Amino acid sequence: MSQPYYLKPKDVTQLISWSALTDHFQEMQRFDMRQAFADDTNRFDAFSLEGCGLLFDYSKNLITDKTIKLLVELAKEVGLTAARTDLFSGKLVNASEKRAALHTALRRPYGDKVFMDGVDIMPEVHKVLHQMTELVNRIHNNLWRGYTEKAITDVVNIGIGGSFLGPMLVSEGLLPFAQKGVTCHYLANIDGSEFKGLVNKLNAETTLFIVSSKSFGTLETLKNAQAARGWFLAKGGEEKDLARHFIAVSSNVKAAVEFGIAEENIFPIWDWVGGRYSLWSAIGLPIALSVGMSNFKELLAGAYMMDQHFLTAPFEKNMPVLMALLGVWYSNFFNAQTHAVLPYDHNLRDFVRHLQQLDMESNGKRVRQDGSVLDINSGPVLWGGVGCNGQHAYHQLLHQGTRFISADFIVPVVSANPLNDHHQWLYANCLSQSQALMLGKTRQQVEEELAIKGYSVDEIERLAPHKVIPGNRPSNTIVLDRVSPRSLGALVALYEHKVFVQSVIWGINAFDQWGVELGKELGVSVYKGLTEYQPDKAEDASTQGLINYFRNLHRG
Ligand code: F6P
Repeated sequence: MSQPYYLKPKDVTQLISWSALTDHFQEMQRFDMRQAFADDTNRFDAFSLEGCGLLFDYSKNLITDKTIKLLVELAKEVGLTAARTDLFSGKLVNASEKRAALHTALRRPYGDKVFMDGVDIMPEVHKVLHQMTELVNRIHNNLWRGYTEKAITDVVNIGIGGSFLGPMLVSEGLLPFAQKGVTCHYLANIDGSEFKGLVNKLNAETTLFIVSSKSFGTLETLKNAQAARGWFLAKGGEEKDLARHFIAVSSNVKAAVEFGIAEENIFPIWDWVGGRYSLWSAIGLPIALSVGMSNFKELLAGAYMMDQHFLTAPFEKNMPVLMALLGVWYSNFFNAQTHAVLPYDHNLRDFVRHLQQLDMESNGKRVRQDGSVLDINSGPVLWGGVGCNGQHAYHQLLHQGTRFISADFIVPVVSANPLNDHHQWLYANCLSQSQALMLGKTRQQVEEELAIKGYSVDEIERLAPHKVIPGNRPSNTIVLDRVSPRSLGALVALYEHKVFVQSVIWGINAFDQWGVELGKELGVSVYKGLTEYQPDKAEDASTQGLINYFRNLHRG
């Protein structure tokens, strides 16, 4: 019997479907999307899907029926069906750390069973949800009080990476659902400016800090937690009051207790939840504190809907699978280096930051699960930002730059904050940008326009090259009915599964992140160079020179 994909992944470039796609890519060199839309009035219906509160339009891509057929064959040939089963059933898909990646268990309904090492983990998952419910209710009903008996008004989540980006994205995305009374803040960076800027706005008597760290060993988080404790004590709180103002979410209960968090105030997470997939766990406490537990459960329900869709829909009708395959098509055949995500919703302005960690920490890998070197592109550089703002910044490069860039446009039909006809304009801008990327403007159109405006032949000749927009640039559009807990849950889960599918195709481990460790290790020795006298200790002259510069200025 062959080994599971996470121990012996297939070399995708050796598959029959890969070489068929290589040939097909040649056939597609002259493919023109404008022409494809003109030839087939059914193209939108053929290449769009509805489900889980989302409409996924992928018709503005450099694809034909044959492309999709071949990409789906690739997914089948690489063993995606088995890989998906392994993911959901708790197999050790994170092979380098010998861990499962069971974030999907966190959104399963009560009564479901998921076994890890012969033990059903679902009772524990629901126990923690219950623990979260109790905390949220106590805070929202003013039963949890600060050391001067005042109600909690501000919650500060101290955490970084997955212990920050996911919760921040969702609590901001769902701001219209926020419960009155509790404001959530995020403290992530070790930069004192962030700390000072935040605490200046807070009252120690009414602030609750959540130290959110799966490992409870992350430098930035621990330093900020110590600074917060120092600030709290300096503001009049006493050691005995800390339990009312500091709680933690961690899988390292011992370290959290040693830090001074009361054991009953520690919410567990498990090593089978990866940091960037953890917003569905107690790491999501700030979300629940902001929007309430029933909305948090709706978020889980939305993600669960997407899980079911991913598990059951045939690949050719499966949103995350199609999204992933389109990404592979562009990364590996068109040699795309980057992918833009462009949400047209102010409250989703931090979606890209979350996706950057989700996608790039997961698929920014250079070897396969078995250690063999990958000689094709893996995850792209993911970037982007909120529309319309981006239109007045980097969209120029999307329209006329020399690089091949694919994009996802994301937009709700209903605005959370309708204002005159602003949302109609926002929606129109979103659609017209993807349309402009696809249609472009031909030389002939430019010449005609300039001639109508009365430009001379010479002027037209001079201006036309600057005004031609090549078009034929691909994008997906994801439309949400509105940004609700359910649709946002589904949207985030959509991207999680997209990332997973791509990792399976490339044969890489989406759930480890060894690359970030080197910087952490070197940071310790550079810190020693700055703070202890260690002449010429740095491994290279550049780092040593920069250390010396810092030391000299600090001495002066
Ligand atoms: O950046 C590395 C990383 O380990 C992320 O994967 C993780 O989300 C983040 O640090 C924070 O980790 P922790 O929750 O353990 O503090």
